[in-house]
Amino acid sequence: MFLISGSASESIAHELSTITDIKLANIDNYRFPDSELYVRMKESVENEEVIIIQTTYPDEKIIELFLLLDACKRSKAKKITVVIPYFGYARQDKQFKPGEPVSAALLASFISIYANEVITIDIHKQHILDFFSIPAKNLSAVPIIAEYLKSKNIDLVLAPDKGAFENAKKAASILQCEVDYLQKTRIDGSTIKITPKNLAVKGKCVAIVDDIISTGGTMATAIKELKKQEASKVYVACTHGLFAGNAVSKLKQAKCDEIIATDTIHSEFSSVKIASIISNSL
Ligand code: R5P
Repeated sequence: MFLISGSASESIAHELSTITDIKLANIDNYRFPDSELYVRMKESVENEEVIIIQTTYPDEKIIELFLLLDACKRSKAKKITVVIPYFGYARQDKQFKPGEPVSAALLASFISIYANEVITIDIHKQHILDFFSIPAKNLSAVPIIAEYLKSKNIDLVLAPDKGAFENAKKAASILQCEVDYLQKTRIDGSTIKITPKNLAVKGKCVAIVDDIISTGGTMATAIKELKKQEASKVYVACTHGLFAGNAVSKLKQAKCDEIIATDTIHSEFSSVKIASIISNSL
């Protein structure tokens, strides 16, 4: 059995290898002068079970995953499991307007051609798993995020919108604190509106929990609203920290007390490590 690490998920693969004792395969990975990617497994995986770990973000990591899948298939691996810590394109999970692709479905179908099984972490919408024609399961990082938040003495967990309420409830039950959600309206890709809601947050320590922080617009708007209502501390926590553009400075300007993310996408805010939840599911 081998763990095969894509370049988007190297630290998770190393930790997973340490926890599970599954050997990490040696891989050649470089770019040609014209920037095309070359990968090669330096050991035989014939008749072996392999676990490929690769976040499908940014775009170039998707091609890398496809190359690794093809290499494993051609090398006659017995079973290919793909672990996708952050499944990119999940927010295009339906045709919102005529003429659009369903990007999440396209990715899932390509992966299903080569892999035997797929594991995702906090996939944006559960129904995306149905786009795979192979067994697909989703793991939740919310319990380990909640564990991390335990030392912060959280009084209230908030979801930034109703869609994130189930995860907020899960975190609140671990933290044994109150839970609520905000009313969010998205105006465009980077502008959102949070309808003020009287939450009685004065003097409270609040954690806002979401699956993704992208532009930071959702979280920054929520933080400002809570600080206006005199919350004593506001932490923001997510599974997938994309931190696009000036997201981090937006969150800091909004006076966020700490930005917390997992390492599905590695960043300086990846305080929560997901290797243990993957190892428990293998
Ligand atoms: C949306 O449905 C997601 O759960 C996140 O709330 C969203 O992706 C956050 O985006 P942004 O950081 O750009 O506001």
